[in-house]
This record gives sequence, C-alpha cells and structure tokens, in this order.
Amino acid sequence: MLNKTLATAEAPPAGTAEPGPVALQPRDVRFDWSGLPLRWIPGEPQASHLLSVLHLLLPEGERWFVSTFKRALPLITDAALREDVIGFIGQEAIHAEAHQGVLDYYASAGVDTTGYIRQVEWLFRRILAPRPDLTPAGQRELLIEQVGIVAAAEHFTAMMGAWVLDATALDEVDLDPRMLDLLRWHGSEEVEHRHVAFDLMTHLDPSYIRRVRSLLLVAPILAIMWARGGKYFAAADENQDFRLTWRTYFDAARRGLLPTPGAFARCTLRWFKRGYHPSQDYSTAKCVAYLGSSPAARAAAR
Ligand SMILES: [Fe+2]
Ligand SMILES: [Fe+2]
Repeated sequence: MLNKTLATAEAPPAGTAEPGPVALQPRDVRFDWSGLPLRWIPGEPQASHLLSVLHLLLPEGERWFVSTFKRALPLITDAALREDVIGFIGQEAIHAEAHQGVLDYYASAGVDTTGYIRQVEWLFRRILAPRPDLTPAGQRELLIEQVGIVAAAEHFTAMMGAWVLDATALDEVDLDPRMLDLLRWHGSEEVEHRHVAFDLMTHLDPSYIRRVRSLLLVAPILAIMWARGGKYFAAADENQDFRLTWRTYFDAARRGLLPTPGAFARCTLRWFKRGYHPSQDYSTAKCVAYLGSSPAARAAAR
C-alpha cells in the first residue's frame, strides 16, 4: 500500500480535515429488501421512481466499468494508479451487485423491468463490447475511448454521491432507511474514488479533446436513459395518482429530494475547465465519516 490512509469504521467525523489519499477498499455490504415498497419515499412517487433508475442502470453499467478497467490494467505504468484502479474495480463490483439486489427483489414482487434491462444490456454488452476484430492499435484506441466514457460517467456518479450525502431533505421524509443507507454508502464510495477514472483516462491519453468528447457523448445518453427509466418505474406503479413530468421533477428537486438542473449544469461545466481535477470537488472527510457510521458498511467491517 502506497502511503495511504485506510478508511475504517473508526473514521473521523464530518467536518474534520481532509485525510489525503485514501486506500480504496471494497466493503462487502448486504441488504435485506423484504417489504421494500416501489415508492420508498412515502408520498413522493416522482423522487422514488427517478432515484430508482439507479437500480436499472448501475448493475450493468458498473459491471461494464469493472470489465473495462480490468482490460486497461496492463496499460498502466504507474504503481499508485494501478493500486487505485484495483480498489475501484473492487468497489464497483460490489455496487453493481448491491443494486442488482433491489432489482431482484422487485422482480420477485412482480415488478417487471426486463424490457428496460434488455435495452441496458444491449448498450453495455453489444454497443460497448470489446472488438477483437480490430487491429491491436484499434483495440487499444477503443479501450481508451471506453475508459474516457467511464471517467465521464464517474463525474456524474461522484456528483450524485456528494448530493445524497448532503441532501438533508432525505432525512426529513420517512424514507426506507435501508435505501438511504444503500444510496449513502454507494455515494460515499463514489466520492472516495472520484479521481480514479479521470486519472486513468489522463494517464492513457492526457488530451483535452478526449476529455471533452467523453462527456459530450455520455451526458445526453445518460439524460435520455434516466428519463426513460423513470417512466418505466412510473408505469409499473400500480397507483397512477401522479405524473412524471419536467414540472414534477423541478418541484421535487426544489424540495431537495433530487439534484437540481442547476447542480447538473454546474457539474457539467466544471469538467470543461482546463485545469480540472476531481479532487477539486467534494469532501473525502465527509464520505469517510459516513462510511464510519453506515449500518451496512459497519456490518461488512465486522
Ligand atoms: Fe459505483
Ligand atoms: Fe464509481
């Protein structure tokens, strides 16, 4: 381990000084989703269904992050970065399975998401699959392009992670505590490893053009898939007493139950600053503090 702090269950409380580089460790969390309602924020179907899109996208998406980064390992020539990438792979693999658990529970409860999941699988297993038919140089270029896609996606997962840690409105509604812990445990690890994909992308190709292109590709696809996923859960809701529209999204965001459009816009613009690095954003101390108090992370540590 390369002079890094190991975040433990005895982590410092939020508000303390930033701990510097943290050794990334997977935490083998487990959740029992028995009885989880589709509207896990009572009375807030729009916020519940839009946040539940995470369970649709992340299992396939994060498995693809893992397979992409495993393929990139032989290209890494920096020992510290290699250690970070291995830690990142371990964390993302568990994230995928944690969100898969929610989907599996919903499937057992009769919520059919297979139509949407087939589209997600098509994207990650077909469109973004390796291309062994290309030349070695072509395969390497495609792999670096895909690392850039992961880095751009991670820009938004870190933003979501920081948001969920700060979203005090979520503490004031009667949100299922298991789901709040899942979101904050995952969000904490996204903040904790927010620099890794960016560092890998710039290690393999430091060009500004690559960085810009990656986000311009990822942001609209993510927005479209998010809207479609929200509609999918909304359609599965047996109680059709609400509408999922831009106006109802703005309303939930204004009340702190979802990130605001302004937060997404500011996050997007930061990426385009020439000297940008993810370490400029968010607080490692805050996420390490949450991981020290998270019921699932503490149970995993035991
Ligand atoms: Fe993740
Ligand atoms: Fe991540």
